[in-house]
Amino acid sequence: MRQAGRYLPQYRAVRQKVDFLTLCKTPELAAQVTLQPVDVLGVDAAIIFSDILLLPEAFGMALQVDESKGGPRFTIPIRTESDIDSLTVPDPSAKLKFLMEAIELTKRELRGRVPLIGFCGSPWTLAAYMVEGKGTKDFRHVKRLIYDQSAVAHKLLAKLADALVFFLEAQLAAGADAIQIFDTWGGILSPDNYREFSLDYLWKVVSNIRRNGAPIIVFSKGSNECLEEISKIGADVVSLDWTVDIGEARRSIGERVALQGNLDPSALYASPDKIRHEVKLILRKYGKGSGHIFNLGHGILPDTPVDHARTLVDAVKEESVAFHE
Ligand code: CP3
Repeated sequence: MRQAGRYLPQYRAVRQKVDFLTLCKTPELAAQVTLQPVDVLGVDAAIIFSDILLLPEAFGMALQVDESKGGPRFTIPIRTESDIDSLTVPDPSAKLKFLMEAIELTKRELRGRVPLIGFCGSPWTLAAYMVEGKGTKDFRHVKRLIYDQSAVAHKLLAKLADALVFFLEAQLAAGADAIQIFDTWGGILSPDNYREFSLDYLWKVVSNIRRNGAPIIVFSKGSNECLEEISKIGADVVSLDWTVDIGEARRSIGERVALQGNLDPSALYASPDKIRHEVKLILRKYGKGSGHIFNLGHGILPDTPVDHARTLVDAVKEESVAFHE
């Protein structure tokens, strides 16, 4: 969940020299910041440094990252059927070559120390950004599209699902050991709309990827109402945000999938003792046995003290051993 990033002084040092998109598109630098959390925190997996919005950019949408305006945005959002018709599914080995090179380089530099996770946004989450242009408060444009022109929304989602299959297969071919799909905005939909506009396309992506056993993790934030259905789309791991009790989630879907999560990222503002206490609570809630990947319930916050992130990783390692003894 955003292992690299602004909370790390080592990351900020690299970012002082290059802007965010240049960092994403320079394989040597992307590999360098991908490795930082492995070295600094001792996490058990690396996630390639990139961004979900680089795929829409590869579709031909101009992406701008203006820090003063709060993050990335598409200068010309897509709103009409003809906008969507004009998008061509990108060949990832050409348009996203920098990412594949970053994966290859990172794998070489990791020398098998920990596995490397590739990732993407879900069709729905990407569609939301492409139609809105940026993250917004009420997502009214993309919601208007699903209510007022559902066939057009489906056309966009189908195109994205096709593109994601190629994109994820390319990441696996480049050396990614597992894939995480971020459905960050799944939770803004009603359960029925969630099934129709998000889950169905997650299922399409997961069931069409040729992945030779590589595990897939699905994170659909705020979609707890639909966990049971999410657990049935063929993913190996369901990642939970912090609003769900991981013990209850295990009882309902833990037979079918492994669970990832689910500490509230804000818990890292607490004292080291309190962080350790929160870790123990989650470990106890999940209970004994395998099938739990400890993680945050969403991205680490930019003003998180690094010491606290390190406390978290140490506490997870120590307390899970103690708990299983
Ligand atoms: O952990 C890692 O090293 C992998 C890095 C990673 C980034 N983005 C780098 C990033 C991952 C997994 C993402 C995914 C991503 N990007 C998601 C899905 C996960 C989630 O957080 O919900 C989303 C929604 C995006 C889109 C995005 N990228 C937004 C909305 C923002 C701005 C938010 C903010 O914190 O400012 C970004 C920028 C971004 N992507 C940063 C990083 C490290 C901060 C950029 C910086 O250096 O200034």
